[in-house]
Amino acid sequence: MTGAERGFGMPEFGRREALGVAGVAVCGVALAGCGGEQGAGKAVVPPGIKGKVIAGTADIPVGGGKVIHEWKIVVTQPTSGVYKAFTASCPHKGCAVASPENGVIPCPCHGSEFAADSGKCLKGPAKAPLAEFALKVDGDGIVIL
Ligand code: FES
Repeated sequence: MTGAERGFGMPEFGRREALGVAGVAVCGVALAGCGGEQGAGKAVVPPGIKGKVIAGTADIPVGGGKVIHEWKIVVTQPTSGVYKAFTASCPHKGCAVASPENGVIPCPCHGSEFAADSGKCLKGPAKAPLAEFALKVDGDGIVIL
């Protein structure tokens, strides 16, 4: 049984520190490219979130983003004034992705990477993209539709 099978690949939020360390260790053996589908699908909106402000626009850096753990959503701002929201659950084994930087949303568990502008899988072992949420900017807030 590998470290990943013992728990580092568990789909739990709140284990970020441990997952981050494990992700560095495991990443080197998980360099296979993404396969199969590349079009980001629409995510199922979690109950209670529709119409709510989940983040302030000022909290989302250009070229980066923020994981909203309460809702398991990652919000990005690929270019100035353009916001995107994706599920923060990695399609590989369900780990929480990490905060996006330089246009990439990394998964700390096994090294998958996703495009911050589309959710497209850039690097495996994940084979699918991050599903996208529809959103709107309402004043200074980002609202899931
Ligand atoms: S859970 Fe394995 S790369 Fe994300």
